Amino acid sequence: MKILVTGVHGQVGHALLKTLEGDYEIVALDRTQLDLSDTDAIRRVVQSVRPTLIINPAAYTAVDKAESEPALAHSINAVAPGVMAEEAAKLNASLIHFSTDYVFDGNKETPYEETDAVNPLSVYGRTKLAGELAIQSVGLPHLILRTSWVYGPHGKNFLKTMLRLSAERDQLKVVADQWGAPTSSNAIAYAVNQLLNVWEMNTASQSGVYHFTNSGSTTWHGFTCAILDAYEVQAVRLGLPPLKVKANSVGAITTADYPTPAVRPHNSRLDQAKLNQTFGVTLPAWEQSLQAVMQQIQDFD
Ligand SMILES: NC(=O)c1ccc[n+]([C@@H]2O[C@H](COP(=O)([O-])OP(=O)(O)OC[C@H]3O[C@@H](n4cnc5c(N)ncnc54)[C@H](OP(=O)(O)O)[C@@H]3O)[C@@H](O)[C@H]2O)c1
Repeated sequence: MKILVTGVHGQVGHALLKTLEGDYEIVALDRTQLDLSDTDAIRRVVQSVRPTLIINPAAYTAVDKAESEPALAHSINAVAPGVMAEEAAKLNASLIHFSTDYVFDGNKETPYEETDAVNPLSVYGRTKLAGELAIQSVGLPHLILRTSWVYGPHGKNFLKTMLRLSAERDQLKVVADQWGAPTSSNAIAYAVNQLLNVWEMNTASQSGVYHFTNSGSTTWHGFTCAILDAYEVQAVRLGLPPLKVKANSVGAITTADYPTPAVRPHNSRLDQAKLNQTFGVTLPAWEQSLQAVMQQIQDFD
């Protein structure tokens, strides 16, 4: 199988390359080699690489900035996946695409299932939803994997920001009324590799949307406390400098206390049952993946 991976310098793209490159022929492209805002470039590159599978983790992921750049976010998150799907279909190739918990409005009390009604609250969420629909309308073999709260050892993310701020500041206050599943880029890549062993691409009933996050849930505040606790363990073990902020002193605030340009759902927990029932794949508990990532953190940037 020849796999074209986009956005290879991103969190998920980087983890996918590291995980899959021993087992598959991978053509991994960054933004300079394939700019997703250029539809001609997408058509040209896909036809010249001639992959059997495209995995597309590249996206416009700046959730707040998207509010002021809706056209660019739309071209990368909505138009590009559709064009990619069209070109893949011409080659009888398949597509794995990533989407987001932010397609939901968060008003449900329990975890969202794939069949629940979508209602994105932000430009980012609307453009990602449009990308899902564009792929589905092409009708090629595809998996749309909705993930959430992605972090990892590579790239900028919430975990590194919290570690950096806890080293610099005396006090930290974090939102405690948004619920979701922190999901490690490594856990995503490992689970994609598992999927590649069991996905029968020509079985049309397996194509579709799957919720694809680490198991369990917490708030941003709960995640922060767990990050700082995990760091303490590492610090003792490796003789790292202590942080100024300790887990038990992180302040809990509400979404209203921390206004952002993009509105985020209060509940973005995603039910994992369909993924497990269809493929026998389940991502680990978020706490377990956090411990694994913490052992690989080299810096806070
Ligand atoms: N991060 C999250 O919390 C989160 C949550 C839910 C869903 N997701 C979804 O999960 C997927 C992977 O996210 P991630 O965390 O790995 O994102 P990420 O770390 O922000 O990486 C995104 C990648 O997309 C690339 N990119 C942006 N614009 C591009 C363009 N015009 N042409 C080509 N490449 C472009 C970036 O390139 P540069 O390296 O050049 O900037 C970067 O490599 C995305 O589909 C995202 O929507 C993410």
